[in-house]
Amino acid sequence: MSEFIPLIEEPELKRQIQKTGQKISRDYKGKDLVLVGVLKGSFIFLADLTRQISIDHEIDLIGTSSYEGTSSTGQILFTKQPDLELEGRDVLLVEDIVDTGNTLLKIIEFMTLLHPRSIKICTLIDKQERRKVKIDVDYSCFSLNKGFIVGFGLDYNEKYRNLPAIYDLKL
Ligand code: IMP
Ligand code: MG
Repeated sequence: MSEFIPLIEEPELKRQIQKTGQKISRDYKGKDLVLVGVLKGSFIFLADLTRQISIDHEIDLIGTSSYEGTSSTGQILFTKQPDLELEGRDVLLVEDIVDTGNTLLKIIEFMTLLHPRSIKICTLIDKQERRKVKIDVDYSCFSLNKGFIVGFGLDYNEKYRNLPAIYDLKL
């Protein structure tokens, strides 16, 4: 039987996302902010974050798929391209979790081809233990060292995204 060990409770998630939204609102004042959520894992974080940002901004989504089970396949598939014109705009990529960094590196390479004015990274969780590539995470709500976590958009084989808080999954 799998075990779900609570790691981050709802009030703490709310508090940190609020703080991050306030910081983004200050940092991007006068800029042309577009939040670009990375599907599917970021959808809940994105929905909460956008409502904590008080300046005008737009939202787009890109889709990638890289994981089966708990280990990276190393392959990244683009399942959805952005809809908005991003050239000359200030793109903030919104991720659920940065683990090895491979996905984000590929996304940044791809987004660079669209010539935005700036590209920065905002992640709900920065998981550093298995980082393989150097990535500057500009905004991170929580840092974790290890574990495989689910809930609040994060899945294990597409399940458990609906859990309202974040759990360490022990298989
Ligand atoms: P990376 O390419 O290794 O940085 O992995 C990025 C993607 O892997 C994330 O966007 C997640 O979808 C998935 N992932 C990595 N670690 C976890 C985890 O602990 N729980 C659920 N998904 C994870
Ligand atoms: Mg993801």
